[in-house]
Amino acid sequence: MSAPRTKTKILVDGGDPAETLKVKALLGYVDGQTTNPSLIAKNPEVLQMVASGHKLTEPEENAEYKKIVSEISPLVGAADVSIEVFSDLNTPASKMFAEGRDKFSWIPNAYIKYPCTDQGLKAAEMSVASGIRVNITLVFSQAQAAAVYAATRGAKEPVYVSPFIGRIDDIGLNGMDLVANIKKMYAAGDGHVYVLAASIRNLQHLMDCFALGVELATVPTKVLEEWANSGFALPTADYVYDPGTLKPIAYENLDLNQPWQSFNIEHELTNKGILKFVADYQGTLARAN
Ligand code: E4P
Repeated sequence: MSAPRTKTKILVDGGDPAETLKVKALLGYVDGQTTNPSLIAKNPEVLQMVASGHKLTEPEENAEYKKIVSEISPLVGAADVSIEVFSDLNTPASKMFAEGRDKFSWIPNAYIKYPCTDQGLKAAEMSVASGIRVNITLVFSQAQAAAVYAATRGAKEPVYVSPFIGRIDDIGLNGMDLVANIKKMYAAGDGHVYVLAASIRNLQHLMDCFALGVELATVPTKVLEEWANSGFALPTADYVYDPGTLKPIAYENLDLNQPWQSFNIEHELTNKGILKFVADYQGTLARAN
């Protein structure tokens, strides 16, 4: 049985082409894929190289990333393959943009992931002006999503914004509220930004993404297997998400017509997420030393 097609495109959240093939067999299709430095560090071939004592240089690590997404590229549909730039807390927009432009040339169906920081949004602004498709990642607040909208206004192709549901749940707040609030805010906009729900940890997250009609969801294989085991259940008309003990996130009235620099995009989880990606990436290099 193939998975039903919903308004929400299904992307694989992973860094292993074998997994993409497995999900494709399970669902009958894969709309796209998102990768990140942590997932690339966990790729079986990368792990094996490191375990066998092969010393990966940064160019070799980059070549591995390119090889991985080149294998995934022909396996997915119209939602494309997201490739993340490597950045730490001090990486300037110019460096991110140069890397983004290079990575965009790797495959014909790339989306370039930039972190939702001041420099990341500057790089995104430059990218959309150059026709590079972008996915703004590590989004944890409605203000960040408003800034993404404002920074990418005029983009010729859909821009993706990636709110991280599970990591918000982890701090005791209802991550699904953030997604709902962004959807509500964007309803007043021009539709150039699509919500790509990320950091999905369980079937309930996926069900609520369907119920909210998010444009895209990137989902780990484990959750897609749960979905298959449920007979590819979909939310019924009376479906209500149960946040359990998670605290609600209030909706903010934000004006999407303001310049992106006017929004407060600081978020500790964005910085923490960048540092985790750096650590996982460098950890792979360090373990090879
Ligand atoms: C995808 O774009 C994200 O990098 C991913 O969903 C993060 O998931 P995690 O919070 O489970 O690491």
